Amino acid sequence: MCGIVGTIGEKALRTYLIEGLRSLEYRGYDSAGTSFIDQGKVTTYRLPGRIADLEGLVPKEVTASAGIGHTRWATHGEPNFTNAHPHTSNRGLFTLVHNGVIDNFRILKRKLETQGFTFASDTDTEVIVNLIEFHYLKGLTPLKAIQKTIEELDGSYALAILFKEENERIYFAKLHSPLVIGKGETTHYLASDYLPMLAYAKTFYIVTDYQYGYIEQQDVVVKHLDPQEEKPITFHETELTVDDIGLNGYPHYMLKEIEESPEVVKRIADNYFDDNHFLFDDVLLQKMKEADQLIFLACGTSYHAAMVGRRYFEEIGKTCRVYIASEFAYYPEVKGENPLFIVISQSGETADLIRCVQLIKQRGNPLLTITNTKGSSLDRASDFTLLLYAGMEIAVASTKAYIAQVGLLALLRAALMGNNDILTDFIQVIAGMKNIIDSRDDIETIAQQIMSAPSAFFLGRGLDYDVAVEASLKLKEITYIHSEAFPGGELKHGPIALISKNVPVIAFISDPITAAALRSNLEEVKARGALVYTISNLALAKEDDAFITPNVKVYLSPLLKVIVAQYISYFAALHLNRDIDKPRNLAKSVTVE
Ligand code: M6R
Repeated sequence: MCGIVGTIGEKALRTYLIEGLRSLEYRGYDSAGTSFIDQGKVTTYRLPGRIADLEGLVPKEVTASAGIGHTRWATHGEPNFTNAHPHTSNRGLFTLVHNGVIDNFRILKRKLETQGFTFASDTDTEVIVNLIEFHYLKGLTPLKAIQKTIEELDGSYALAILFKEENERIYFAKLHSPLVIGKGETTHYLASDYLPMLAYAKTFYIVTDYQYGYIEQQDVVVKHLDPQEEKPITFHETELTVDDIGLNGYPHYMLKEIEESPEVVKRIADNYFDDNHFLFDDVLLQKMKEADQLIFLACGTSYHAAMVGRRYFEEIGKTCRVYIASEFAYYPEVKGENPLFIVISQSGETADLIRCVQLIKQRGNPLLTITNTKGSSLDRASDFTLLLYAGMEIAVASTKAYIAQVGLLALLRAALMGNNDILTDFIQVIAGMKNIIDSRDDIETIAQQIMSAPSAFFLGRGLDYDVAVEASLKLKEITYIHSEAFPGGELKHGPIALISKNVPVIAFISDPITAAALRSNLEEVKARGALVYTISNLALAKEDDAFITPNVKVYLSPLLKVIVAQYISYFAALHLNRDIDKPRNLAKSVTVE
């Protein structure tokens, strides 16, 4: 979602802001803007559109002592010039960019209107900047005015703020939306994540909730709304490098990330299994054994990985529930006495999950977060964290993170069972993945055959159904083709009405228990003219199958089948000429509810 950058006194200020925003493009956005401050004058450039458009708008040579930049993913008001950030207060004293949503902005807006403030945009952000000015005009310092303002805000925010009379300082504040400070050789930086700063800063500080303060070239001041919580901050290094975020010769991040899958499985095994021992925290394993219920919470692709996780742990006798986080957040149903919550999130910043975590904290139950992002809000909020080690995932469509999530859940199950043979099973998976990658041209042919259809259907049973749901999400996300997934047996209960001549039906078959039943469902749709593409495996293959994956243990079959699904979507999107890594309307990290 929205992205923020800012820095002071940097010679290459324009480059940092523009390139920084470009590196945040993956988060999803529809407008962009920057403000530069020079000798008490703030100049703002903003528009609906892409960073390339903003680059054309900002003069090649900019003289300024500090600057902030923003990519906006519209929440309040359509993407247009007026709603784009930065926003400036009525008297021009403060200019800011905001990532998040202010729930009580209407009440605050009314209060400011009674004080004579006027508003040009539909945004909640314009309320924040004017509220700061309102408090400042009452005689507070800018820092106190910011403190007073954020005390009044309900919702989420990461803010970077310029004050007209302090040209070499950027104020900031944060609640539930990510913000990182970078320390370079000569100055400090602000950004929504590490990416914009990797080429400039050596060490980093992840701003935590309720913190606010300012950065200068040589100084950083970090305050907390609760003064008891104020402590000296420490900067850390990151394992990410500029190389990690390059395309490395690939045309798209999505393709690169799909093809990193074998390496991702290997890394998971290396990090959690060594010398015939699992490396999971014994206390965590004990808590999982003692829990009378495992409750999985996640969204999107991570939810689909959680569906697989539920089957894994039910199979070994645990009672499990799996909820879409945005539903659980409002209808938290917990039946057991002693549940353990498992939150799964690539980004670790998903707002729906953060809301759930607040409920879990109130209940006092143990919380395990499975995330790709060390230091993320969910990592910090949990009792136990298992990192995915998938490496930075930049394409909006999640691919390798799903692989890591399912792989990690399989390892965790093996640890609870004491099944050390899993390594052998993983080796088979890695070989299978490489085999599929080598045969990707065959999958491209399938993609070309389905890409012109207005609708596509995915079928499976058991774990194959879980893959079907993920396959369907991936297809709609990046090709904009309408698609749905059903358990094979459910078709006759209604959805078969949608099957007509030439409708593509893509079926996954990995499990001998349900293979025959699914094949008979496929006969039913073929009889109605559907074009059936069966993705089976060597053990269950039939002559007309569209693609055959190598054999792996059935419980690990999603790790292979999903790669086929990802390729189908990727190649269909490629031939449809879609913006594969940045599909319309989507954001990589969904930081608002
Ligand atoms: O970062 P998270 O795993 O919490 O994100 C959850 C979903 O927003 C995410 O998986 C989304 O569905 C992806 N775009 C799917 O490709």
